[in-house]
Amino acid sequence: MIANNYTTYEEKTMAVGEQLFLPAPARITATRMLNPLNKVFQIELPDGLSLGHRPGQFVEVSVLGVGEAPISISSSPSRSNGSFELCVRKVGDVTAALHSLEPGATVGIRGPFGRGFPIEKFRGKDMLFAPGGLGLAPLRSLINQVLDERALFGRVIILYGARNPEELLFKYELAEWAERPDIEFHVSVDRGDETWKGNVGVITTLFRNISIYPRNTVAFTVGPPVMYRFVLMELLGKGLSEGNIYLSLERHMKCGVGKCGHCQINNVYACQSGPVFPYSEIKGLEEAL
Ligand SMILES: Cc1cc2nc3c(=O)[nH]c(=O)nc-3n(C[C@H](O)[C@H](O)[C@H](O)COP(=O)(O)OP(=O)(O)OC[C@H]3O[C@@H](n4cnc5c(N)ncnc54)[C@H](O)[C@@H]3O)c2cc1C
Ligand code: FES
Repeated sequence: MIANNYTTYEEKTMAVGEQLFLPAPARITATRMLNPLNKVFQIELPDGLSLGHRPGQFVEVSVLGVGEAPISISSSPSRSNGSFELCVRKVGDVTAALHSLEPGATVGIRGPFGRGFPIEKFRGKDMLFAPGGLGLAPLRSLINQVLDERALFGRVIILYGARNPEELLFKYELAEWAERPDIEFHVSVDRGDETWKGNVGVITTLFRNISIYPRNTVAFTVGPPVMYRFVLMELLGKGLSEGNIYLSLERHMKCGVGKCGHCQINNVYACQSGPVFPYSEIKGLEEAL
């Protein structure tokens, strides 16, 4: 069913100003534990609305009586099917309350918010993805969108780093990516265990395995702030231009829509101008990295 001629929640949000602050009651339709700290939620909006997001955007998720937190949309628009996915790490009150919820439970959703990746600009380009840890959650949305439109892009290179084998997310998809001849997939963990046969070392050690054509390559990196400096050094060292390196800046956010100032980086609101930025736009901002 389509409510009031809106087909996406974004259209409805834009049309009805108050919706920016009013969560829609949405239903959890499936959950999957990836490891003890990270759980994936499949969520459906009311009235058959689709979220209408672009990769890199986030939603504000609320649990009644507990609070609200910004969470990246982890599924790609191309795989929406009337629902979307969030990958949530249990770190505090809201995320712990979310982890206790099972299919059938209701959560509040506001969004999609923020500026996502301008995917149309990347057609014909070689795509280099360098997610670290939970950074795979937002980048997975872009990666799967690119894979679903595979013919429109050049090489797809994925360099994924995690602290240890248990913390690798979406292992079932990683196994598929590793098998595909049209993806150059490399993975590393900071510390191996008795089961791990792959590369050991921080994510930057994977850059040795690849050569790229910098003028035709766009790179995307999302991960813990400490990672950015080193990944940027690798990418710039390989000759990528600052405008062709995209990263996502996560800040403490409240409103998500440029009203409260919680996410301010110098004179920029990360919730509105970001969280996705080309490096060229933020390298001059003292508080960005
Ligand atoms: C754009 C965006 C996208 C995100 N995407 C995801 C995602 O896909 N998955 C995911 O799991 N998380 C994501 N996060 C992070 C998530 O929003 C936070 O971890 C959120 O704070 C969790 O809420 P909580 O109530 O569970 O934990 P909180 O109670 O907020 O605590 C979380 C941690 O942050 C610390 N903290 C809280 N407030 C402050 C403060 N003011 N200053 C310093 N430290 C503080 C706490 O000590 C604790 O270690 C995203 C954040 C942003 C901004
Ligand atoms: S979160 Fe309120 S201004 Fe960005």
